[in-house]
Amino acid sequence: MSRNPEIIIVAGAQWGDEGKGKIVDLLAEEADVVFKANGGRNAGHSVKNEHGSFALHLTPAGIFYPGKDNVVGNNVVYSLRAGMEEIRDLEARGVPTDRLFISSRAHLVLDYHEREDILLEKLRGEGKIGTTATGNGPAYSDKANRIGIRSDMLEDPSEFMDELNRILKLKSDLYFSNKPTPPEFQAEFYEGLIKEASEFLGPRVIDLYQYNDEQLRKGARILIEGSHGALLDIDGGTYPMVTSSSCNIYGLLSGAGLPSVHVDRAIGVFKPYQTRVGAGPMPTELLDDNSERIREQAHEYGTTTGRPRRVGWFDGTAARQSQLMNGFREIVIPLGDALTGINVKVSTGYLLDGKVINNFPSRMSRLASCQPVLSTEEFYWTENFRGATSWEDLPQGAQRLYRKIANLVDSRVTYIGTGPSRDENIKLDFDIREMY
Ligand code: IMP
Repeated sequence: MSRNPEIIIVAGAQWGDEGKGKIVDLLAEEADVVFKANGGRNAGHSVKNEHGSFALHLTPAGIFYPGKDNVVGNNVVYSLRAGMEEIRDLEARGVPTDRLFISSRAHLVLDYHEREDILLEKLRGEGKIGTTATGNGPAYSDKANRIGIRSDMLEDPSEFMDELNRILKLKSDLYFSNKPTPPEFQAEFYEGLIKEASEFLGPRVIDLYQYNDEQLRKGARILIEGSHGALLDIDGGTYPMVTSSSCNIYGLLSGAGLPSVHVDRAIGVFKPYQTRVGAGPMPTELLDDNSERIREQAHEYGTTTGRPRRVGWFDGTAARQSQLMNGFREIVIPLGDALTGINVKVSTGYLLDGKVINNFPSRMSRLASCQPVLSTEEFYWTENFRGATSWEDLPQGAQRLYRKIANLVDSRVTYIGTGPSRDENIKLDFDIREMY
């Protein structure tokens, strides 16, 4: 073996949409293999480069670098239609996809999952989650219920059809016992799709454990890109208003089918404020003018759904929960430049039943009753530092904010993003916590 393998994991540390795309893009340049390890087409990140503007949902961000492998891991739920469309769009715009592989153990999302997602949300009524309606929840529940269909079926379309027949018969009995079955719940509906997908995607299907073994033996540099964010994690997040996968560092590692011994860097991405799409409590949510200002200054609209994101102050208690789940050894903070001219606040605890608490309540109704305790420190500046590349270029109010966040998360900050371009970054080679 020529050198030791290296694994870097980048995870969203809030409710998704933390701006992971840019750091992933930077790190992808140095990687041999880039993984998408969880989620499905509900996740999305925007990439702008010489080929144009892209909203990637199912394809790892390393696809834009020639010669790198891009792998869809075990814990991804892969939409057959959306996956093929994304690959075709990339190819049509001059991005080669010949090194894009899909784990044989990744589950597939079909039209009936989307129907179930929409139906379930309707039935939830007031308690609806605000899902992305992309069939993710139903695909993960089929996986856990052992009635999922995995990518390995793409190797044999006739076995795929048999399996689909069996599963859809079961679903029809469950949902439509005496009623007509909608076409999406009949196997024939998928005949053409399965044939096409088997030809188009079948050759990309790999045995992930075998593949990883070869890469680790070669000393590959592996980058795992997380989808969503820790507070949407099925276990440690704001259940039931969460997504259906494991979004923390350890879930991502497992989703990529990799052993933990080679992990070098576990990086969390935090915005210096936070956003949420869909329903569920967010104790620091802003309902005043600041919300609209931040949304506009930072372009906080969903990549997948275009929905305006809910905006709130940085929440130290939620950040601590995220750190407890992930054990980040370094964090990255993009988007601070978007807060110029805003009198920024940071929450350091919650007020619940007249007491200040520091823990993140597991019961949703308790979390919804929490009021933020806002720090009295001043985090305000008027000089726009967009494009700054050194710590000294930052206004003092911004420096205070970054230090505050580093201390609340209790982690080193290694990058501060100062704009969307690749070179708009401050790389920190000292620990800003030590400056207190
Ligand atoms: P689902 O993942 O479509 O089932 O949606 C569950 C919850 O997670 C909803 O509140 C969604 O808005 C949220 N969600 C899912 N994916 C993302 C993401 O990538 N960014 C932000 N929120 C997400």
